[in-house]
Amino acid sequence: MFKIGVLVSGGGTNLQAIIDSITAGELSGIEIASVISSKKDAYALSRAEEAGINAQYIGRGDYKSSAEYERALIDRFEGFGVELVVLAGFMIVLGETFLNAYENRIINIHPALIPSFCGDGFYGLKVHEAALARGVKVTGATVHFVTGETDGGPIILQKAVYINEDDDAASLQKRVMEEAEWTILPEAVRLISEGRLKIEGNIVRRI
Ligand code: GAR
Repeated sequence: MFKIGVLVSGGGTNLQAIIDSITAGELSGIEIASVISSKKDAYALSRAEEAGINAQYIGRGDYKSSAEYERALIDRFEGFGVELVVLAGFMIVLGETFLNAYENRIINIHPALIPSFCGDGFYGLKVHEAALARGVKVTGATVHFVTGETDGGPIILQKAVYINEDDDAASLQKRVMEEAEWTILPEAVRLISEGRLKIEGNIVRRI
């Protein structure tokens, strides 16, 4: 089994998309070994428990430094033999302690077509508000490897979503999830588990 660990902070619909893909037999040989939430009341924790997955709340506030917090996450994931870490709506920026422990083995889903509407301060609904404020006609989602530069790592998959005249940030967020995020995140996990990707600098190639 290829074991993944999922970091969440919110509703957990992307976690659910991975769970559903496994249940549907689309991600064979893949197991969600551990889910960690940075928020105690995240609905993502209930989704994990419902699916019989080991899930735990580990809050940043209980640790003196980012390094100590990240060490706790690493210890937890290593204890479960996690080989790939998936950031599925995880709202804490990871530092070098975590990045070094899982170098080239962390992926993130971002709700825009990187390099648009990304980087520090662009998360959740804010991303869609920025896209609407700029008046772009197409947005989408991106799965990328995580490096020290926020949303700057090698891009694995992207999927475009057209913006409707009557979209607001909430309706756009929902459509980007439904039409892009929930498809490309499980697909990226599958490609990595099958050893189908190679990173060359900041470019991801299929092998
Ligand atoms: C998703 O839209 C995800 O792309 C976004 O947070 C949401 C989490 O939803 N992530 C970011 O903005 C990261 N910069 P979920 O908890 O229902 O999966």
